[in-house]
Amino acid sequence: MGIRIKGTGRCIPEKILTNEDLEKMVDTSDEWIVTRTGIKERHIAEAEQSSSDLGAQAALNALENAGLTADQIDLIIVSTVTPDHAFPSVSALIQKKIGAGKCPCFDIEAACSGLLYALNTAYGMMASPLAYKRVLVVAAEKMTSLVDWQDRSTCVLFGDAAAAVVLENDGDPNTPDFYIAGEVAADGSVSDILIVPAGGSRTPASAETVANKQHYIQMGGPKTFQLAVTSMVSACRNVLEKSGVSPDEIVWAIPHQANRRIIDAVAGKLGIPEKVYLNVDRYGNTSSASIGICLDELNREGKIKKGDLILTASFGAGLTWAALLIRW
Ligand code: UT7
Repeated sequence: MGIRIKGTGRCIPEKILTNEDLEKMVDTSDEWIVTRTGIKERHIAEAEQSSSDLGAQAALNALENAGLTADQIDLIIVSTVTPDHAFPSVSALIQKKIGAGKCPCFDIEAACSGLLYALNTAYGMMASPLAYKRVLVVAAEKMTSLVDWQDRSTCVLFGDAAAAVVLENDGDPNTPDFYIAGEVAADGSVSDILIVPAGGSRTPASAETVANKQHYIQMGGPKTFQLAVTSMVSACRNVLEKSGVSPDEIVWAIPHQANRRIIDAVAGKLGIPEKVYLNVDRYGNTSSASIGICLDELNREGKIKKGDLILTASFGAGLTWAALLIRW
């Protein structure tokens, strides 16, 4: 069909928060954070910067990389767990900020798996009779807006960032699609292990919810860790089996960058540790932006060439998980 990744972009806030900075804020240590997570530092958005600000900049960078202008985009899909508002959507705000005309826009909330959910959805909408030609997919996350800076078990993990991917259908039947095979999945029966309890329709914001710190991330770390490994391994194996591609043929494996130990466990079980791309040390967990940042770094550093096979996998609240085998 000819649906290809035409460009990538990212937006990383300037301000850096190191493990040493965190040592001054909570009872933690650089040694604990590095050993347990692999994270050395993370980037933090300014107070006045929202997810749509980060996402719009990533989108403009991706459009420039694609050699396209915003008015050529036919559809915008944004993944985020930190929308600027309950409504309007972040995608509508980004449409306005980048000057994308009146194209349809919607947000996807699949937590850390959101970029892969969005790429899956975008591909479906391009390959279907809807036939969207150029789609902008953005993952924009201001995770620090959900972080309790007094909770050492979560505040050391997250960072802010956005990433974007421009997809284009060139209409040439001889051009192979970027999408080789994918799996998207969820298990709502364990939704309570990773949650921001208040601020939605279940428990609207009140003085009490603020006093009880119910607007911050609450996570069962070890359980989440265990499910992350099993679900990403099984999704990757299913995608490889569906596609008939062997692990040897993969050029890069890009797992969601939540924790170095999760990544090592998944890569070890799949037998591809030498193919893994890592940047969790520099950004921490940027939720759905993480895989997009990796793609953009590889792309801009010239480390991927046309036709390379890239295996991506992610996992997050919901619980959701996904794997996508991409042809560059
Ligand atoms: O994006 C997708 C969703 N998130 C994830 O994928 C995260 C998955 N989970 C994890 O990455 C890990 O479970 C964590 C990094 C969150 C925690 O690592 P862990 O090895 O599972 O540690 P733990 O929660 O079992 O805690 C071990 C100890 C505890 O002390 P005690 O009870 O053994 O005395 C914690 O209180 O480490 C303590 N601890 C800390 N110590 C120093 C927890 N956080 C910290 C900290 N600094 N920041």
